[in-house]
Amino acid sequence: MWRNQPFGRQCAWRIIMSSTYVIALKSSPRPQSNSNALADQAIAGAQAAGAQVESIELHRMSIQPCDACDGCQGATDDPCVIEDDMQALYPKLRRADAIVIASPVYWFALSAQAKLCIDRWYALDGPQGSALAGKQFGLVLTYGDSDPFASGAINAIRAFQDMCRYIRAGIAGIVCGSASKPGDIQRQAEVMARAFDLGRKLAGGR
Ligand SMILES: Cc1cc2nc3c(=O)[nH]c(=O)nc-3n(C[C@H](O)[C@H](O)[C@H](O)COP(=O)(O)O)c2cc1C
Repeated sequence: MWRNQPFGRQCAWRIIMSSTYVIALKSSPRPQSNSNALADQAIAGAQAAGAQVESIELHRMSIQPCDACDGCQGATDDPCVIEDDMQALYPKLRRADAIVIASPVYWFALSAQAKLCIDRWYALDGPQGSALAGKQFGLVLTYGDSDPFASGAINAIRAFQDMCRYIRAGIAGIVCGSASKPGDIQRQAEVMARAFDLGRKLAGGR
């Protein structure tokens, strides 16, 4: 069938298939969200560098907590037994070359929406390690306090760093900024520019 395709279509398909696939996992439920604005900058940066990017809004998905049944921990590729929206996300996570997590700081940590999703990555663990090993990760965070320590952003950053070390993934960058009201972060051109650069880096992070 491929041989009968016009040359242009074959070529375009190859270009799509060979570009870096980046996933943005947005976790804020808020309209005009600050962390989502940083994620959109990272998406724009990745697209500018030629990546295929998919934006995923975790708060719109039905994601249950890991129930620690260990049903996923047998043979390699044993799936998670919980039938919810993670089932559609697992293949995308496996296929992604790079993943950017966007989160507000909630109660001195990552948002619950982000944590629910990350906990379910337990099902991507196998005897050979995690299916996410070798991928490039980025984190974009916003917090209401003026200080990354007092706000608890540092806890979210530490959790992210430990997670990447555990799954043997790379860290392309971490961008965080203080912003309280919806849209506040957009006035911080330097932070927005750093998020754009993170996206560019993720696109090259195959
Ligand atoms: C439930 C809740 C918990 C929060 N906890 C913290 C916190 O622990 N530290 C902090 O600095 N800001 C905290 N904030 C403020 C948000 O982190 C801040 O407004 C952030 O910019 C929100 O990002 P978003 O616009 O992407 O939702 C909290 C906000 C909410 C709604």
